[in-house]
Amino acid sequence: MKMNDLIEIIDKKLDEYLKISYPQKIFKSMKYTVLLPGKRLRPVMCLEAARLFGADIEDALPTACAVEMLHSQTLIHDDLPCMDNDDYRRGKLTNHKVFGEAMAVLAGDALLTFAPQIILKNSKNLDREKLLKIMEEYFQAAGAYGVIAGQVMDIEAEKIYSAAALYDAEEKFNKDDEELLHFIHLHKTSDLFKLALRTGAIIGGADDKGLSALTKFGEKLGIAFQIADDILDETSTFETMGKTLGKDKAAGKLTYISLYGLEKARADLNALIDKCFEILSENGLQSEIFENILNKIRKC
Ligand code: IPE
Ligand code: IPE
Ligand code: MG
Ligand code: MG
Ligand code: MG
Repeated sequence: MKMNDLIEIIDKKLDEYLKISYPQKIFKSMKYTVLLPGKRLRPVMCLEAARLFGADIEDALPTACAVEMLHSQTLIHDDLPCMDNDDYRRGKLTNHKVFGEAMAVLAGDALLTFAPQIILKNSKNLDREKLLKIMEEYFQAAGAYGVIAGQVMDIEAEKIYSAAALYDAEEKFNKDDEELLHFIHLHKTSDLFKLALRTGAIIGGADDKGLSALTKFGEKLGIAFQIADDILDETSTFETMGKTLGKDKAAGKLTYISLYGLEKARADLNALIDKCFEILSENGLQSEIFENILNKIRKC
């Protein structure tokens, strides 16, 4: 199946899972951000990982949709005034701009807890052992050892570094800064890609070797993806990205660009994408969809 076919299936299911119930306000707020036209990379990768290990795509759909709900939760909270303070997401006003801050906080909380329920209620063909493994993966990635750890240090780093200090300094970085940036990217971004890939592989019944290959792949791809996002924040347009750009620099964020500059960011991005291709071929993981995604990230 092609990427666009998978996206169509995912969008239809997301709409179905997010039925407007009582109280309508919270379901409307949850549904608003989830159904905006995101790229759907993580759910597509979950379905593709499942297919690679021999699963029926139908059996991975609840998990793929749950990963997209979790991702949407991180976006809603990431955009709040107390975090990155963004007004636009996926080409439209951010959740708190439409529903207010209180509802946006609650919509994020609701999605975080709704997503695993979707997996448990709808994965009829998965046995208890697989479901338990998927739950472990979900809570590890969503919690204080996962995305939250990355987001915490992203915000902390913004306080430590000022735009002037980082962007204008002669000596741009030291080892501690590099480790900190790596930690931030690994958790705020790679953890959700790893979740998507590992849960897909678990559904397909992958062995340890397969799982560890996809874990390495997800880690590198996540870092490459965040480098690309950091590059695009400086070089792209609102029309292409659907969000206000240039804000990382203005906020004094610790990013790949603030630390290393655009040239090294591009070179490292390329090397990481090469590494991802290598992991796929070394492990016999043949996927046009993964290859397309890698090529798109490389071209940013
Ligand atoms: C945005 O992710 C958050 C980052 C990790 C940079 P995406 O760029 O995948 O967002 P959508 O889902 O396409 O909106
Ligand atoms: C966001 O990173 C990562 C998460 C939401 C977990 P960014 O803050 O760089 O993402 P954008 O640029 O707002 O999409
Ligand atoms: Mg952020
Ligand atoms: Mg942000
Ligand atoms: Mg960004």
